[in-house]
Amino acid sequence: MKYNRRKFIGLSALGLPFLAAPKNFGHALYQPEITKENAPIVIATWDFGVAANAAAWKVLKEGGLALDAVEQGVRVPEADPTNPTVGIGGYPDRDGKVTLDACIMDHLGNCGSVAGLEHVVHAISVARKVMEKTPHVMLVGDGALQFAMEEGFKKENLLTAESEKEWKKWLKTAQYKPIINIENKAFAPKRLPGNKFNHDTIGMLALDANGNLSGACTTSGMAFKMHGRVGDSPIIGAGLYVDNEIGGATSTGVGEEVIRNVGSFLVVELMRQGYSPEEACKEAVMRIIRKKPETAKEIQVGFLALNKKGQYGAYAIQKGFSFAVCHTENQKLVVKGNSYYG
Ligand code: GLY
Repeated sequence: MKYNRRKFIGLSALGLPFLAAPKNFGHALYQPEITKENAPIVIATWDFGVAANAAAWKVLKEGGLALDAVEQGVRVPEADPTNPTVGIGGYPDRDGKVTLDACIMDHLGNCGSVAGLEHVVHAISVARKVMEKTPHVMLVGDGALQFAMEEGFKKENLLTAESEKEWKKWLKTAQYKPIINIENKAFAPKRLPGNKFNHDTIGMLALDANGNLSGACTTSGMAFKMHGRVGDSPIIGAGLYVDNEIGGATSTGVGEEVIRNVGSFLVVELMRQGYSPEEACKEAVMRIIRKKPETAKEIQVGFLALNKKGQYGAYAIQKGFSFAVCHTENQKLVVKGNSYYG
């Protein structure tokens, strides 16, 4: 029997439960009340999330869109040449090329993404243009650069003298081994040489005064990666996912493991089932650990989540994962996320 809508409705009306529409089909879902207690709010990965949140907060406090807030927020670390993991100054790939990955997602389920983008500092803004001006979700490499040029973005050299120096040091051994991303120097068993800190992606989630959620995620990816390697950060569902009925999630750490587990989508779906943001992040981390316990000992992955009620939480494989929260004027809270090896 060929499926058609009329037959579907007819059979459902006959009371055949296995053919009936899902419970919430056609009905408004529960929407929590938005008050000053829970919104606006913005959260972001790592200590550098504090400065990024401050830029996002300027948008949110004026009643602006969560989408504008997350874009403005993550542009801060993208523009910081001393940050070796995001935007200008990011460590290059093993061929000496700085390639950026970023994505953005709004409350309507629109999303845009770039991967392997060279020469443009604000990969997040190119990702937003992909979302708003093309029929596509993702542009990569030369195509992403061509599009950025057409949209009037400036072409720049993203390789700073400091990053070039570190790359040349790395070339002496050229050993490809992910390093555990960790914020607190005291915890760090291994750090990138000469580096003050060792973390990667900025992932940001915001709930605006109208109760709408958006998220953004941007990185230069794993230091000294193979040319052409793409991590989780520009992959919708892996590095970032937002569902305006439920919440949003983002990730940091070794992108390969996040992609394998469709991590951020998983966190949001677990919140849909009633998990708190931290419980959902923990279960996503546990999937990675259960599947590859030996690998998991050696790597970092952290998830950060925000639900529709403005509740947030995080969980990581390794200790030392931090995130920043801002929901009142001048608040700069940095929270240590819980972790499996804590
Ligand atoms: N999480 C960033 C990356 O793996 O590229």
